[in-house]
Amino acid sequence: MADLPLLVARLRAAGCVFAEDEAQLILTAATSDGDVERMVRLRIEGEPLEYILGWAEFAGMRILVDPGVFVPRRRTEFLVGQAVRLSSATAVVVDLCCGSGALGAALLAAVPDAVVYAADVDPAAVATARRNLAPERVFEGDLFDALPTGLRGRVDILMCNTPYVPTAQIALMPPEAREHEHRVALDGGEDGLDLQRRVAAEAAQWLAPGGRLLVEASEDQAPVTAELFAAGGLSPSILTSAEYYATIVIGTRP
Ligand SMILES: C[S@@+](CC[C@H](N)C(=O)[O-])C[C@H]1O[C@@H](n2cnc3c(N)ncnc32)[C@H](O)[C@@H]1O
Repeated sequence: MADLPLLVARLRAAGCVFAEDEAQLILTAATSDGDVERMVRLRIEGEPLEYILGWAEFAGMRILVDPGVFVPRRRTEFLVGQAVRLSSATAVVVDLCCGSGALGAALLAAVPDAVVYAADVDPAAVATARRNLAPERVFEGDLFDALPTGLRGRVDILMCNTPYVPTAQIALMPPEAREHEHRVALDGGEDGLDLQRRVAAEAAQWLAPGGRLLVEASEDQAPVTAELFAAGGLSPSILTSAEYYATIVIGTRP
């Protein structure tokens, strides 16, 4: 059986900050010594651990992730927590720009009678989300175009973690993100807000009265996002969490 201290040393030498945890996870997931070696080599070559294991931890759950699909970030647990707080027991929820569907899956775990729909433009993300959520409620297409028209005016909670990295800053991201996650999952255009601009302009047509749109943003972007929400007819508020190092903007349809 593979030698744990040796694996830790190899991973540490390759720059893995959490080498011990990663070695343990690889040993638990691998089915043979050959499998351990394959996984360690991939990791040393820079493949994100989540793609090697096939899952990412998010909100205390194991969310399945396939190569290229955005790996859900722990900071986004803050957005989900707020969405759960604002959900009624039978809320109609949309996870737009769903990636793996992590947000929808986490909300459903906390609000089991919610009805969760999800959509993404990237076929790889849609295929993954169909493994984490009810597949018949996961749609492929550009933003709201993907959703069944019957949802118009009926959505209580619209969670939308758009790409929001300004194009010029993608080069500064860790290689695990910029070399392995699809560009469409990261690139938010010149100021990072291209997608949020479009979502804010259309969201009010999809929200039920009193319904909420929740997006994540950087601290600098949040005031601009709030203005976009107001221009789209939503009443905005900005929330930050020091614990999650996260900022979100919530827009409420009056
Ligand atoms: C930052 S990732 C977030 C994924 C997931 N919500 C999460 O937090 O783990 C952004 C997602 O938006 C999707 N996306 C980008 N442009 C889109 C568009 N025009 N319509 C729908 N989805 C889009 C990407 O494919 C990607 O999966």
